[in-house]
Amino acid sequence: MIKFLEAALHGKQVVIVGGSSGMGKATAKLATGLGAEVTIASRSDAKLKAAANEIGGALTITQLDTTDEAAVKTWAIGLRAVDHLVISASGVARGAFVDLPTEDLRTMFEAKFVGPYVTAREVLPKLTNGGSITFFSGVLSRRPSVGTTGLAAVNSAVETLTKALALELGSKARVNCISPGLVATEAYAGMPDDAREGMYAQVGGTLPVGRIGQPEDIAQTVIFAMTNHYLTGTVLDIDGGHLVRA
Ligand SMILES: NC(=O)c1ccc[n+]([C@@H]2O[C@H](COP(=O)([O-])OP(=O)(O)OC[C@H]3O[C@@H](n4cnc5c(N)ncnc54)[C@H](OP(=O)(O)O)[C@@H]3O)[C@@H](O)[C@H]2O)c1
Repeated sequence: MIKFLEAALHGKQVVIVGGSSGMGKATAKLATGLGAEVTIASRSDAKLKAAANEIGGALTITQLDTTDEAAVKTWAIGLRAVDHLVISASGVARGAFVDLPTEDLRTMFEAKFVGPYVTAREVLPKLTNGGSITFFSGVLSRRPSVGTTGLAAVNSAVETLTKALALELGSKARVNCISPGLVATEAYAGMPDDAREGMYAQVGGTLPVGRIGQPEDIAQTVIFAMTNHYLTGTVLDIDGGHLVRA
């Protein structure tokens, strides 16, 4: 299997928008190890440099804010050919339906839906024939919890974009979406340690696998989406059994 993945990815140009953290970073690490030429992009130069240090190898870093359409256009023009585009960048907003400020809802849709949409569209001319695009949604689209109406809806929008775009691009490029369950990433770094670890333990205890996800669990699935040439228009649930939990 490792030999197959190395042959499939050796020398391939992989661009990961959101690659300076969490699941994007884990994917960058795995793809680099398999011989791909990886570019990671995100807003913070400091995060990008720290991720590059951690990952090692010949990695390219570029600053990008997906919510700045003009910047995305300029950035995409500067890219070389891209074999695989992964977009894990997002911003999320939680809150009860009546409490979530409209501005926060709009900001989340910009960061998690419009930004990835525009990024994929602008990279498309650089995507090689037979290449792939991988978006990220999340388990809440089909298993919402109280206080997540906006986030559940934006995840659904990304999944529907995936299916419609896979149809539109046909054999030119495959389009898939990763739907993670709860994964321990820097996304939760702002929480107090006790609360975060409590949440991880509580959710992990309800899952069939008995634990929450690690970024590496999800990175394996992103590599699968890049390298399986019969896979398109699919939402891959990688959630420890969250969708079937009691
Ligand atoms: N972690 C979970 O439990 C979980 C569960 C379900 C779904 N998801 C989804 O899975 C995906 C990855 O999540 P994660 O936890 O790995 O995220 P993360 O660790 O918070 O990383 C997000 C990455 O996106 C970048 N980013 C954020 N906004 C951006 C923007 N406007 N333009 C460019 N880059 C931007 C961040 O870097 P900068 O700050 O430098 O921009 C960072 O590299 C997201 O779509 C998330 O919603 C996560």
